[in-house]
Amino acid sequence: MFLDSFLSLAYGLLLAAYRLSFLCPLSKFPGPPLAAATGWYEFYYDVIKGGVYPFKIVDMHRQYGPIIRINPWELHVSDPDFYSTLYVSGSVRRTGMFPRQRYGLGVMESHNATESHDLHRNRRKPLDVFFSRQSIERIEGMIGDEIKALDDRLLALRGTGQVINLEYAYASITGDIIGQICSEEPISLVNGPDFSPHWYNLIFTCISQAPLFLHIPWVVMALKLIPVGFLLRFYNGGLAFREYIALARRHIEDAKNSPISADAVHRNSKSSLVRYILSSDLPESEKSTERLGRELMLILGAGTATTTRALNLVTYYAIANPHIEARLREELAAVTKGYPAQMPRWSEVERLPYVTACIKEGLRLSFGILRRLPRTSPDVELRYKGYTIPVNTPVGMSAYMMHTDPDVFPEPFKFIPERWLGDYDPLMNRNFVPFSKGSRNCLGLNLVYAEMNLALAVIFRPDGPRFKIYDTDESDVVLALDWVIPVPKADSRGTRVLVE
Ligand code: HEM
Repeated sequence: MFLDSFLSLAYGLLLAAYRLSFLCPLSKFPGPPLAAATGWYEFYYDVIKGGVYPFKIVDMHRQYGPIIRINPWELHVSDPDFYSTLYVSGSVRRTGMFPRQRYGLGVMESHNATESHDLHRNRRKPLDVFFSRQSIERIEGMIGDEIKALDDRLLALRGTGQVINLEYAYASITGDIIGQICSEEPISLVNGPDFSPHWYNLIFTCISQAPLFLHIPWVVMALKLIPVGFLLRFYNGGLAFREYIALARRHIEDAKNSPISADAVHRNSKSSLVRYILSSDLPESEKSTERLGRELMLILGAGTATTTRALNLVTYYAIANPHIEARLREELAAVTKGYPAQMPRWSEVERLPYVTACIKEGLRLSFGILRRLPRTSPDVELRYKGYTIPVNTPVGMSAYMMHTDPDVFPEPFKFIPERWLGDYDPLMNRNFVPFSKGSRNCLGLNLVYAEMNLALAVIFRPDGPRFKIYDTDESDVVLALDWVIPVPKADSRGTRVLVE
């Protein structure tokens, strides 16, 4: 026992000494020596301090310059001009991902967690078709129906004094929409009591565990062995994670148990993503329930959490600032005059400059993913200023730093849609990267724009529901912590409103 501890300590010290020595190719990059020596440095900010490492990285850049080493394995760059060099399409160069950023999240083997560029492309190809602009336009009717269901419920709550948590409300429609896309099952979270908080809580309880799972991935393996009763009592987050895995698997088993031909799948615009993948030319080994379950977990989570945040943020700022709300309602009058008989079209709404400005500002301040998104270059070295970055070194940049750059966005933490109107600084578009860029950018961005345009059009039409903020302030809404997906302060009470 004593010998084991001694050997572990000696190994740890030797490893740290190697990481700091000239023998390690990353030792020439500046940064705090402790961060370079051990992953526990990042663990402290991610887990003990509850998700503040991205903000620490900002401080580290101030001290050490635009390229730094942030842990024993990774570099981080703070220079907006480098973004388009780092995040590139496959026609420019192959891009790998850094698996350590996915360990423990339960999504290994999904396309997103696929390290190799070529395998990632193969796995993503059938999904790209499914989430193309054309495909999303084909399901615009279903998206519209969900949004109308939300609107009907909100109008029915007029004057009742019932407090509504807008995050639950938005998570219910984004969850219903992505649920139908994935599995054809109309889950109808939007019609559940209080907008089905269990769905929001399931996703965000899992997210709250993400920083710990990332650093100590074996916790997830161990969870599988712990009895449900124990988890329920002592570790609710672990139970939620397990439920989530089961949900994804059920969808796949159902589709496998009632197979239909590839032709029938393609002819039916309502065919689910699972059926589409099952009928694709991916090899059978890629269609195992285990792997597809991970794809679904990724897509169900990604499809709910980030869009909910962005919609919530825009709605809060619009109702907290009467001039924003008034301008939105005025601009939306023409395209929504036929509602509810006729849903506005996404293609019409997206042409409205003020709605577009609100959406961009909402995406800017909700960041998408606040933390860095590390990429590797498996074939060629990258160069940054005087530095040569060795092949396969993970290098990351963050939307947080791009979106809050005060040289490009004056008063960067203020929600000012007007900044996106007229002849604005083109550098704002360079710095606007909520969906990242390149071959591993967001798969769901067309869906996001369709959902945001249509939801905001219906909610902020002139005779749409009128909200009154209830016991909520800006600090409950702004994103303050990085739990892989950004979240507001840990004791946020949510965004609560009454319908007047
Ligand atoms: C406001 C909403 C959203 C934002 C800002 C956003 C942002 C992002 C970002 C920054 C990435 C890159 C992550 C990485 O490097 O690992 C990403 C990836 C991804 N997003 Fe989104 N996302 C949003 C909504 C959605 C939706 C609705 C879906 C549903 C399909 C989705 C599915 C995905 C998937 C599957 C990936 C992984 C892509 C890959 O690795 O090739 N996202 N998203």
